Amino acid sequence: MTSAELPPPGEPAGKSAGGEEHPSFDTSVAHVARIYDYWLGGKDNYAVDRAAGDAGVRAYPDLVYSVRANRAFLARAVRYLALEAGIRQFLDIGTGIPTSNNTHEVAQAAAPDSRVVYVDNDPVVLAHARALLTGSPEGATDYLDADLRDTDKILDEAAQTLDFSQPVAIVLMAILHLIGDQDDPYGIVSKLTAAGPAGSYLALSHVASDIDRKAVAEAREQVSSFMTVKQTYRDHAQVTRFFDGREIVEPGFVMVSEWRPVSAAEAATPSAIWCGVGRKI
Ligand SMILES: C[S@@+](CC[C@H](N)C(=O)[O-])C[C@H]1O[C@@H](n2cnc3c(N)ncnc32)[C@H](O)[C@@H]1O
Repeated sequence: MTSAELPPPGEPAGKSAGGEEHPSFDTSVAHVARIYDYWLGGKDNYAVDRAAGDAGVRAYPDLVYSVRANRAFLARAVRYLALEAGIRQFLDIGTGIPTSNNTHEVAQAAAPDSRVVYVDNDPVVLAHARALLTGSPEGATDYLDADLRDTDKILDEAAQTLDFSQPVAIVLMAILHLIGDQDDPYGIVSKLTAAGPAGSYLALSHVASDIDRKAVAEAREQVSSFMTVKQTYRDHAQVTRFFDGREIVEPGFVMVSEWRPVSAAEAATPSAIWCGVGRKI
């Protein structure tokens, strides 16, 4: 489905005036996938998402750089995993609305036999799932409509495409700040990473609570006022804890722009997002 096929602003879910079925979603409340799409320069967002996005940028003017640096980290991490770590299976949870350098494109450009399973719980991402399913003929690409908190469902259904007896990379980019402490984010990550053998990887990025503290906290308040989902930003030590017991890939836990940047400009991009890549031992 293209943006032109999404229901117009204000039209709730279900059927459009033309009678076609749309996934169920409310265009009067901002959604994180659509706000993020707006920050990335995409077109799959509504007035309320743009208002939320603009309020965030007013509070933290480097926000768009930060989000784009996150996306660039995703591509560098997946390329590293495919080319240098020899990973051929990726479970990318919190896919986002398709943009450039989606995980399957980067992985299959590096290794065409890569198998990628995407997971998201947003109906707009679901509406775009077909665009995510155009992988290389040698590999495989699949999409699951599931919530990160439902780890059993994710692992059961992903097992139709991925072989969990072989190394798998669990990719969790800019999603864990949408899981509050009451939902046990550390337990969720351990259950997911328990599924693969030694040699599997965890790659994640997480919005920081301890970089540009005041402006980032204000941006969180502003953006949250348009959304129903609560955001929990975490500090360096809390993000590092997701990797307990793992061998950490150099350069360790850094801002997304500092993780193996390919140019001086990339390295200098402001980013209030921590990241890391770790190997199961
Ligand atoms: C900020 S976007 C990040 C997109 C992409 N991972 C990236 O880094 O470019 C967060 C994504 O996570 C999805 N998401 C949020 N909470 C989720 C949950 N509980 N289960 C599954 N997906 C979720 C959102 O719908 C959105 O697509």
